[in-house]
Amino acid sequence: MRLADRMDIIKHSGTIAMAERARELARSGKKLYNLDVGEPDFDTPEHIKRAAVEALMSGFTHYTSSLGIIELRRAIAEYLLEKRGVEANPDKEIIVTPGAKHAIYCACMATLNPGDEVLILTPTWPTHFTCVEAAGARVIEVPCGESYRLDEEMLKEKITSRTKMILVNSPNNPTGGVLGVSELKAIADIAAEHDLLVLSDEIYDEIVYDGFETRSMASFSNIRENVILINGFSKAYAMTGWRLGYAIANETIIDAMNRMQQATTTCPASFIQKAAIAALKGPRECVRRMVEEFDRRRKYVVKALNEIPGVRCVMPKGAFYVFPKLPDLGMSSLDICMRLLEEEGVSTTPGIVFGSCGEGYIRISYATSLEIIAEAIEKIKGFIERYLRM
Ligand SMILES: Cc1ncc(COP(=O)(O)O)c(C=O)c1O
Repeated sequence: MRLADRMDIIKHSGTIAMAERARELARSGKKLYNLDVGEPDFDTPEHIKRAAVEALMSGFTHYTSSLGIIELRRAIAEYLLEKRGVEANPDKEIIVTPGAKHAIYCACMATLNPGDEVLILTPTWPTHFTCVEAAGARVIEVPCGESYRLDEEMLKEKITSRTKMILVNSPNNPTGGVLGVSELKAIADIAAEHDLLVLSDEIYDEIVYDGFETRSMASFSNIRENVILINGFSKAYAMTGWRLGYAIANETIIDAMNRMQQATTTCPASFIQKAAIAALKGPRECVRRMVEEFDRRRKYVVKALNEIPGVRCVMPKGAFYVFPKLPDLGMSSLDICMRLLEEEGVSTTPGIVFGSCGEGYIRISYATSLEIIAEAIEKIKGFIERYLRM
């Protein structure tokens, strides 16, 4: 049996492959250090869980509007206006989706044609490549390095008559880099000048350290009509398994994304949408405490990694990842991660899955306890010293 040609593009996710191998080793009894996790290690806050249970018990268990319930869309609009200075009409400019990932998929399917080019600031989360390619468009990488800094000239040089979209992810997975206001403005101005769409994945927007000043791409009025803002509940509220995200865009794009959603999932789960209202309107102390704990770990990880011979690790400004550059061990980042897993039980993610500029790096998630992080970094240190001597 021959599968569809598009399945040559849609490969198994590199990050998931590492996690699967780690699970296999764990089943065989090996002690594992999971530094490959893309989700907070905290429990979903009580008041959010309670809202879901109450909705369930009151019988709120049927299909909803395919855009998501209007109360949630209104809560999202209020949140965006208050926190990000972004105005969105909850009737027409917001769609709630089962996870931010599905929002990205629908956005790409709704706006990209085969042959279109998408300028993606890299390194970046592999799903960005997959969704663009699944829509038949071509990925053009714009390398931003381990600090995720914009090279404005390079971005301009890569624009052709086929360029349709710029894809930005700040705060960034995997580097933890956050674009400053002037960089975001430069992207906005370039997009406005060339009438390009900007898909801005801002899912880590609540996880920013040291009061670093940033903004939503959708807050720049000159490109508000061109921006597809992606966000969700997974990271800020530790709700990864609940599967709830959303997108903000102009009415035409949201309508097209809605048709995609109707064709694929009908709507996000009903009672989970009630929980999301509680997340947005409820106490924010839980978010603050989680970010504080991530911050403590961030400082520890960066210091410990920089003490390993030949390792260079930039201090991230957001999210919960670091992206250290490793010394030359005569292996690809994929081989390094596989060997780290097999020999030391430390599960990390190879830099190459985040784009070609990620080779030579690995991604480490610090969404796990300081104790595990400390032991795992000792193991990484031993591994690097051993291979450096060879
Ligand atoms: C940049 C980025 N966007 C989106 C997501 C996924 O969000 P969701 O769980 O809402 O699908 C992730 C998850 O790792 C991510 O890193």
